[in-house]
Amino acid sequence: MHKDVESVLLSEKQLEKIVNLLAKKIEKDYNGKEFIMVGLLKGSVAFMADLMKKINLDFSIDFMVASSYGSGTESSGKVKVVSDLTQPVEGKDVLIVEDIVDSGNTLNFICNYLMTKGAKDVRVVTLCDKPARRKVPFKPDYVGTEIPDEFIVGYGLDYDEKYRNLPYIGILKRSVYE
Ligand code: IMP
Ligand code: MG
Repeated sequence: MHKDVESVLLSEKQLEKIVNLLAKKIEKDYNGKEFIMVGLLKGSVAFMADLMKKINLDFSIDFMVASSYGSGTESSGKVKVVSDLTQPVEGKDVLIVEDIVDSGNTLNFICNYLMTKGAKDVRVVTLCDKPARRKVPFKPDYVGTEIPDEFIVGYGLDYDEKYRNLPYIGILKRSVYE
């Protein structure tokens, strides 16, 4: 285990199980639909790479970069599209892939943004959900697992751009950010 990690919250095995369950549900719901899977960079990178390989359907992928977090552990509440999609979403079904929903600010903004751009339907799959921290009402369509109010890292999730490469999800030691 990494020296900055307090304890492992989701092991590689547990992550694999969660991803498989989500993939099955999505495969069933999106069968016959033409959809774009949109990853929110950079946090979704590990999750999306694993998830997309398990969904046996035809779909395209794309990425967006949205910023709301600085280098701290609190959302600023203001969301900006830093890098947009490379293809039009008019009339398309969009499935957004996110690492974690916290305040809800990011996804609330991004879903509205894509609907304004004419998407037919926008749904969200998130690996983790911290419902206790919600500041704006937002309910993801597919949730891997609900987690307690702790700051987590690994499997794509960072603190100050570190720990994204850990193969598991761990609770970050408070001494790292306090
Ligand atoms: P929201 O807009 O507050 O819902 O924030 C969502 C984004 O904040 C996520 O996509 C993550 O990038 C980041 N985030 C929220 N909680 C954590 C955490 O516990 N660890 C790492 N990143 C987090
Ligand atoms: Mg993110």
